[in-house]
Amino acid sequence: MRIPPPIAMLAELTHRCPLSCPYCSNPIALAQKDQELPTETWISAFEQAAELGVLQLHLSGGEPASRPDLTELISGARAAGLYTNLITSAIGITERRLAALDEAGLDHIQLSLQGTDAEMADHIGGYKGGYKRKMQAAGWIKDLGIPLTLNTVLHRKNLHQLPRAIEMALEMGARRLEVAIVQFHGWALKNRNVLMPTKEQAAEASRIVDEARVRLKGQLVLDYVPADYHSDTPKRCMGGWGMLGLNIAPDGQVLPCHAAQTIENLTFQSIRDTSLRDIWYDGAAFNAYRGEDWMQEPCRSCELKKRDFGGCRCQAMAIAGDPAATDPVCGKSPLNARVKAMVAENNASTDGTLIYRTL
Ligand code: FES
Repeated sequence: MRIPPPIAMLAELTHRCPLSCPYCSNPIALAQKDQELPTETWISAFEQAAELGVLQLHLSGGEPASRPDLTELISGARAAGLYTNLITSAIGITERRLAALDEAGLDHIQLSLQGTDAEMADHIGGYKGGYKRKMQAAGWIKDLGIPLTLNTVLHRKNLHQLPRAIEMALEMGARRLEVAIVQFHGWALKNRNVLMPTKEQAAEASRIVDEARVRLKGQLVLDYVPADYHSDTPKRCMGGWGMLGLNIAPDGQVLPCHAAQTIENLTFQSIRDTSLRDIWYDGAAFNAYRGEDWMQEPCRSCELKKRDFGGCRCQAMAIAGDPAATDPVCGKSPLNARVKAMVAENNASTDGTLIYRTL
């Protein structure tokens, strides 16, 4: 099969983070500070990515502002010709530091929103005073005119705040709002009974997003990741495994998606000792679930296989224990009844205690 070049790269600069979100998408075993790639290796990775065809670089974490060399990394990425997007909670971003990032050529910021008021945001992020600092940073971003996307992860505890999140995106001058219903990988699995949205909540979120897309056409773009566990069709995760983009973990491991390390039968290569080109085109992990040859039934004979590629490999791993299984949220999966029962059980739980992600 013809393998297209990657379009986007997510650089997870560090796993260090001042927040403790209960749905953290980083792996259970975090990379330690002394395992993080040094500045020059990151910049070499950016140059290799640009040569390979990557257009957009997403700088993420953990909290990327925990890296003291963030300005230098952005300069290096811009020099390589990449469009740079900083994904941040804004904790660790001062007015002066933001001006330096802007000066270095930062193209875009994605600001995460854990809730639309201090009580909810600080509760979910596990960081007192975080909301206030975020709002302050939003003001600086607006003053500097840096293009902004507001990101919000919604779940049973805060889904009712979606209308206010849309208003806030407009007030902040954001051009996009990313609404993602919580995905259950890694740490989020520990909080599934508290965070699992109800079917009614998921349907209401879809209705609100549809309505806002029409009402705000030309003013605000809404990206939406729905709750696929309430649907009968799985999501087209990552646009297909190893087809659109790649991730580099803080220690240099190159991954097909942010949760790929949960798939234990895969071995990941490192940017420290293999070129990005070799990893993308020839790496065993990247080729493991590309195309259709790996598919089992019912995916293999399904008319939707080119649309959803069998769903999310990491979700198949988490629920079926087999990364080559049909994503169990699919109505055709033999495990779908188990998923629906699990969702009902989680929805019935009255335990509101969050298990925070701590370092
Ligand atoms: Fe890894 Fe979906 S999150 S394939």
